[in-house]
Amino acid sequence: MLFRLKPEQVEIGMFVHAFEGRWIDHPFWRSRFLVETAEQVARIRGSGVDALVIDRSRSRVTPEAAEGAAFVERRSGEARPVKVERRAAYAGALRARPAPPVTYAQERRRAERVIGKSKQAVMAMFDTARLGRAVEAKKLAPLARAIGESIERHSRALLGLVRLKAKDEYTYLHSVAVCALMINFARHLKLGEEEVQALGVAGLLHDVGKVAITDAVLLKPGKLDGRERAMVEGHPAAGHALLSQSPDIPAAALEVALHHHEKMDGSGYPGGLSGEHLSLHARMGAICDVYDAVTSDRPYKAAWTPCEALTAMRSWPGHFDTALLDRFADSLGIYPVGTLVRVSDGHLGIVMGSGGAAGEAMLVRVFFDCDTLAEVEPADRLFAPSTREPFIVGRDSPAFWRFDDWDAVRFRVVGAS
Ligand SMILES: [Fe+2]
Repeated sequence: MLFRLKPEQVEIGMFVHAFEGRWIDHPFWRSRFLVETAEQVARIRGSGVDALVIDRSRSRVTPEAAEGAAFVERRSGEARPVKVERRAAYAGALRARPAPPVTYAQERRRAERVIGKSKQAVMAMFDTARLGRAVEAKKLAPLARAIGESIERHSRALLGLVRLKAKDEYTYLHSVAVCALMINFARHLKLGEEEVQALGVAGLLHDVGKVAITDAVLLKPGKLDGRERAMVEGHPAAGHALLSQSPDIPAAALEVALHHHEKMDGSGYPGGLSGEHLSLHARMGAICDVYDAVTSDRPYKAAWTPCEALTAMRSWPGHFDTALLDRFADSLGIYPVGTLVRVSDGHLGIVMGSGGAAGEAMLVRVFFDCDTLAEVEPADRLFAPSTREPFIVGRDSPAFWRFDDWDAVRFRVVGAS
């Protein structure tokens, strides 16, 4: 049984059957899904859709929750009807039982399958490219969609897993990882879902030009000679040329393939383009590509923790769009060393580094009480990625808290160990 609701009437436990209104306003990849989190509710309510169609028979909230909703239609075979007496018997229990959010462990199992399938598909796509045949973007779009859905359910599960790469699968899993990072980043920047999907496909395809590089060069642990370096630096143009042969490749994928090794100061390749000539998509691609490379184990270097990676990337002059890099760090909930962050218990602190062996917990030196507007005795505290109190709320502004000489304050606090 289908009912039409206003976006503001949606609740956790309702099964969305369709969105009405402009497609561009639709807040999700899928139009059919169970609303399971407060974030999903907020996204639906904040979207520009005119109305939603709810499938009551697949919803977990009581029929009463949809009171006032306009009846739409009932289609046999599409929305499975549930017997009235059975629904009544379960109504009380269902009312008090919204769908539980997906746990990290549950999503990790699903993410493993998504990553495995994606890796196989990327390997097949590279084989197609090696044979000189056109790459079909339509085969990659469902993968990007599945990766996006996993991130939406629990972002850390897939993003954490995809950092683990064996040497022989690095190139393929790197493509999957960049796809996931691009989707997560694009959503954080509140780009439209069509653009988000195109950027996911761009991540999967960005390094396809590496089929022109021999394995001996690609996996070489030492320094590359001039001929080898030229071969490596040819992969963006090779990838762009290869993708240009296919009619259905998104423009974002062509852009990212060609320009993901450009730098803001113009010292990158292949075009040596400087910041004002680099699109948002190219800048995003450069950040996601390097972040995954340095947080992965490579033949010549052990993996950096996310905090080490972002701190180092922040310190490379002229390489990245630094404002965009800050947004990228925020999209991951990870902050470079020296960043001012607010803690949920009302304190401010400075990020000192990664704490745990996995590098996921953040070490923060707390030094300021926002309630009393006064400094407190600096104390080092570890914050695991969690919504359990206390947690890191996010980056904060030294100017807002009137740390006029922020560098001096930071030096004093960080030096006070
Ligand atoms: Fe590349």
